Amino acid sequence: MPNITERQVIDALRNVIEPDLQKDLISLNMVKDIKIDGANNVAFTVILTTPACPLKDMIRTACVNAIKHLIKGAGEVTVNMTANVTTINAAADQGPMSRVRNTIAVASGKGGVGKSTVAVNLAVALAKTGAKVGLIDADIYGPSIPMMFGLKEEKPAVLGKTLIPLEKYGVKLMSIGFLVDQKTAVVWRGPMISGALRQFMSDVQWNELDYLLFDLPPGTGDIQLTLVQTLPLTGAVMVTTPQDVALADVVKGIAMFENVKVPILGVVENMSYYQLPDGSKEYIFGEGGGSRMAAEFKVPFLGEMPISTDVRKGGDEGVPIVIRNPESEQAKLFMATAEKLAQQIAIRNAGVGKGLEIEI
Ligand SMILES: Nc1ncnc2c1ncn2[C@@H]1O[C@H](COP(=O)(O)OP(=O)(O)OP(=O)(O)O)[C@@H](O)[C@H]1O
Ligand SMILES: [Mg+2]
Repeated sequence: MPNITERQVIDALRNVIEPDLQKDLISLNMVKDIKIDGANNVAFTVILTTPACPLKDMIRTACVNAIKHLIKGAGEVTVNMTANVTTINAAADQGPMSRVRNTIAVASGKGGVGKSTVAVNLAVALAKTGAKVGLIDADIYGPSIPMMFGLKEEKPAVLGKTLIPLEKYGVKLMSIGFLVDQKTAVVWRGPMISGALRQFMSDVQWNELDYLLFDLPPGTGDIQLTLVQTLPLTGAVMVTTPQDVALADVVKGIAMFENVKVPILGVVENMSYYQLPDGSKEYIFGEGGGSRMAAEFKVPFLGEMPISTDVRKGGDEGVPIVIRNPESEQAKLFMATAEKLAQQIAIRNAGVGKGLEIEI
């Protein structure tokens, strides 16, 4: 018979604070399935707010320490981890988007800064953590998703009046490039463009998703407007390069989203530096522009990505770097950026302020 009780385990875990949400695991209802065997070994499950939680290991260690130090005679401690991604998507209680927990726009002020590259790698990175992920190519005039996923010849299946999204690398996908050839969409006018984007939300079987990302065209045009008017977005990720022009344009982008009450989840600086063969970093366009700008606007800085031939090839060849070479430095940076993004979403969904503290 064990001489440790479930009550003791619960009391010990009241001392483990979820660093982002600033409450203990028991108050947050994050612990289930407590089991104690005859040898006083303790096992339980912690339900995280995202499978991409960057604090996973820290929380696990804190749990083990709490049990070992606070309960006399405790044996082995096994902490299982699961995740239940949080949402504040209360408005969308009907329709095909009702089971989409979080919607994230990937945007930039200036063109060609790497939005699509970042959106693709973040989506695949989130899927790799076990999350259910979708990606909408909202760039109707210049879709990139078919090429970047190696799906240029594929067409989604039609089911009644709905479309089944294509799926690759664990991500559900929809792009105008799957439906009409490039020449057709180029002559479309504003209302048709907005209509196409709306249909990507209303007529596609997304089913249950933890994160649905939108790869936007640059700037602040019809598409951006349609998106913010159609959906209560969870937030936007701004992509920039270190040059002053790109930084100035991203400021306009931030202002646009903030005007319509869409939270900025963070800034990603792309093409920040070039990694020299000796491992040192050459900051071709100057160092720290993106992070300084983020600090100035009090929005989280999610990471900086190097200029890299492998990242570019990954896009051109339809195998994103996080799949092509998961052990590479670039892939690890994308994974870390995706975790920070998921963390910001969890913080926001818990209603804990603006969610800035991201040192991990
Ligand atoms: N970190 C990087 N290193 C090297 N090349 C990159 C990097 N990021 C993006 N690129 C390349 O730069 C080009 C533009 O990137 P991408 O298409 O992702 O930008 P975008 O912001 O989506 O452009 P647009 O505004 O046209 O939608 C692509 O050829 C892409 O492969
Ligand atoms: Mg793009």
